[in-house]
Amino acid sequence: MSITKRNIIATAALPYANGPIHLGHLVEYLQADFWTRFQKMRGHDCRYVCADDTHGTPIMVKARELGIRPEELIERSFQEHSKDFADFGIHFDIYSSTNSEENRQLAEEFYIRMRDQGHTEVRKIQQLYCEHDKMFLPDRFVKGTCPTCGAADQYGDSCDKCGATYSPAELKGPYCSICRNTPVPKGSDHVFFKLNDFRDFLQEWMPAHTSREVSSKLLEWFKDDLRAWDISRDEPYFGFEIPGFKGKYFYVWLDAPIGYIASTWQLCKKQKDDFDSIWRQSNSKAGNEIYHFIGKDIIYFHCLFWPAMLKAADFRLPNQVFVHGFLTVNGEKMSKSKGTFISARTYLNHLDPMYLRYYYACKLTSSLNDVDLNVEDFVGRVNSDLIGKITNLGSRGAQMLSKRIDGRLGKLDKEGELLVARAQARSESIAAHFEARDFAKALTEIRELADEANKYFDDKAPWNLIKEDVPGTRAVLTATLNIFRILAIYLKPVLPEYADKVASLLGESSYSWADAQKILQESSIGDYQHLAVRVELEKFQRVIEDSKPSEAAAPKATTDVAAKSATKSATKSAATKGAPPATETPGEIEFDDFAKVDLRIAKILEAEEIKEADKLLRLKVDLGELGQRQIIAGIKSAYQAKDLVGRLTVVVANLKPRKMKFGMSEGMVLAAGPGGKDLFILSPDSGAQPGQKVK
Ligand code: MSP
Ligand code: ZN
Repeated sequence: MSITKRNIIATAALPYANGPIHLGHLVEYLQADFWTRFQKMRGHDCRYVCADDTHGTPIMVKARELGIRPEELIERSFQEHSKDFADFGIHFDIYSSTNSEENRQLAEEFYIRMRDQGHTEVRKIQQLYCEHDKMFLPDRFVKGTCPTCGAADQYGDSCDKCGATYSPAELKGPYCSICRNTPVPKGSDHVFFKLNDFRDFLQEWMPAHTSREVSSKLLEWFKDDLRAWDISRDEPYFGFEIPGFKGKYFYVWLDAPIGYIASTWQLCKKQKDDFDSIWRQSNSKAGNEIYHFIGKDIIYFHCLFWPAMLKAADFRLPNQVFVHGFLTVNGEKMSKSKGTFISARTYLNHLDPMYLRYYYACKLTSSLNDVDLNVEDFVGRVNSDLIGKITNLGSRGAQMLSKRIDGRLGKLDKEGELLVARAQARSESIAAHFEARDFAKALTEIRELADEANKYFDDKAPWNLIKEDVPGTRAVLTATLNIFRILAIYLKPVLPEYADKVASLLGESSYSWADAQKILQESSIGDYQHLAVRVELEKFQRVIEDSKPSEAAAPKATTDVAAKSATKSATKSAATKGAPPATETPGEIEFDDFAKVDLRIAKILEAEEIKEADKLLRLKVDLGELGQRQIIAGIKSAYQAKDLVGRLTVVVANLKPRKMKFGMSEGMVLAAGPGGKDLFILSPDSGAQPGQKVK
């Protein structure tokens, strides 16, 4: 069957650059990977496009906490994310960043078109401003008491306890979540995109370009006028400055989806391909297709704001927005304290990525339903289906053919032909499930074929047959291996490495979908190498243990650093001369308590004066096996930063990281003395190695 070649761009939502990839994200990046790999196997030109979403307040604030520039933070995330994706076998044709020149140009172009056609307006709004941090606070950075139920420490947009939603100004006793000072209302001009100008267009566009489930939800929003969307933010902000509007930046959600286009543009530059014919409405080629994979939490952005933006700026609209549900683990929302908020890396430290790919494929449908990862079910499906049903066909068939006969496939007999033809006949129906993102249905059909083949193998009992009928046995193994080969081809979008190993076992190379229609006869097979091993439940339990917040009991630090506390107690005892309070007499502690303090040799790699603080230096230390840490130490009065670089000293390595005004402090440098110039850090004798325990 010949298929006309399609040109497809598929995108997955751009992950934020301030956190690690977790198993929830992978629900999306994996399904889009299955789908794009499937399209490529069908011979289509399909490109999977993604990038890190790098702008906005949370990223700026996090970089400040770490004492680094946002560019450095996003570079680190980029490296980590890229590695996580690669290790999960997720193949992007381009993985870029929204902080690119292409994206800046495009964001400006969008804005200028929106503005020039009268779709923007400038209005003054009141917002909470932190005088201390010198910034306007996004809703999530204001906390306070819920105006509805009185619960303390709720975010500025909604209450976790009673579910009420409100504006930050309505909170009782609002405080800045960064410095805990009380913010004040302050006016500022903002740019708004007049979404309601696109009301009729959107109302018509949406139902045709999302599932019915999604559009029926969206249509509820059309009961009233669509409110204008605030697309600007005041400095300081990490993002793109708005042309002609000094000190104002595009809100991250304006330039993030434009990142899909910018990434495509970069890809086209690399491949010397025509970008305009893909994304520009006036040049767009009729045949080109664009699809967005997103999670249900960001429908509003992709089905309202984004199509309106594209329309306003004369860019092409996506053919479909594919929306998926959320990951739950053992039936519940992912939870840090339960250890079910699992990062991609923690999973990879213990388990084969192939298992998760297979498991998600078994569970994924095209609906909005949440996807549950049940740990026992996971182990069961991998062991009984992937290994027991599918892999065993190949391993039993191939090993018997190589070890008991001569490793050559024969010809199919009548029965074998029939069986193979049945497996081949499922090709289009399985393909249709992949096309429709009904991965679960595709996998069910594949398993049914495996069941039939296992029944055939067991009925024929080649381990007995071989004693009297070698040609007959060869025919049985030939049929079995041909079906196994077809299953591997059907599984290839989900398990590409597995399929490649099968191809090399059978002396072939990379499979396309059409290869399922071939029959392999009278050829030699290679040596069998392991395709998959069973998964153990304990391994998953270890993943969960590793994902729990560490409870390593650290001594409660009364101050940030030893030096600071030394200075403090010195002044205090001077003031209360002769009658030091009881807390200052060194109390006895149990040996066990002492043993909890993890003292280590550290090598000071970098030291930098914190200009804004009179006592603090920022150090980067090497702790050998424990890696590198940043420590903010109150020793500036006694040491010059440059004199410390290269020195060995002793630090408390298991002190809970503390968020300080000038960044995270991930440990404590030990120092003695009353303070001021008289402050002495410890110096181990030469020969001590970074990371060694101090006993
Ligand atoms: N940066 C935005 C997207 C911008 S797209 C122009 C964002 N990032 S995110 O990192 O929070 O999420 C990235 C994608 O992963 C989103 O589609 C989101 O729905 C999906 N998921 C994040 N957590 C998820 C689960 N727990 N479960 C399933 N999908 C999840 O949103
Ligand atoms: Zn503040």
